[in-house]
Amino acid sequence: MNRFKLLFLRHFFNKTPDNFILFVAKILGIKIGVNSFFRTPDYVDTLNFSIGKNSFINKDLFVYSHNYTNAKITIGDNVFIGPKVKMVCVDHKIGSSRQRAGEHIERPIIIGNGAWIGMNVTIMPGVVIGEGCVIAANSTVLKNTHANELYVGTPAKSIRKLN
Ligand SMILES: CC(C)(COP(=O)(O)OP(=O)(O)OC[C@H]1O[C@@H](n2cnc3c(N)ncnc32)[C@H](O)[C@@H]1OP(=O)(O)O)[C@@H](O)C(=O)NCCC(=O)NCCS
Repeated sequence: MNRFKLLFLRHFFNKTPDNFILFVAKILGIKIGVNSFFRTPDYVDTLNFSIGKNSFINKDLFVYSHNYTNAKITIGDNVFIGPKVKMVCVDHKIGSSRQRAGEHIERPIIIGNGAWIGMNVTIMPGVVIGEGCVIAANSTVLKNTHANELYVGTPAKSIRKLN
């Protein structure tokens, strides 16, 4: 059954219009809390994905997780995610010159309650975005962020604490 759901997710879910996406996501078993809204994504390839309550995911979310067990994506409550945000849970160790994409690695991503992720941000494998963080548009987050700080740039660095 999950295999069928995944196939459906990859081929049809990502083309489902905004006003229908919540309904389809819930049928597929993606956990979405009350009062959360999810616009049509660019690409989501996992059912291993949950969204808390009062959260908003804007258009063209790109999730690369391949439904691997350890590549779970957890989005908290009251989170706002801007358009074209990328969450990448899959990585490789750098291999030998014969094949640089070496040993496969999969890591979860967690977005803490209250965070705001600006548009076109990339979040790398294993990153935990602390509660109440703001990640400025176009940043790339390589490491965990402390709660209630503003992070900017590539790699994203904290530029100030937020009240
Ligand atoms: C971060 C943001 C919220 C601004 O917060 P702010 O507290 O008003 O910050 P400021 O504009 O005072 O900028 C503070 C510093 O960060 C820099 N900065 C802000 N946003 C930046 C970004 N996206 N990329 C690089 N640097 C950025 C500013 O240049 C400034 O640097 P300086 O002190 O050297 O001049 C805003 O820039 C942003 O990224 N918003 C997201 C917009 C978005 O994605 N909208 C889609 C709908 S969700």
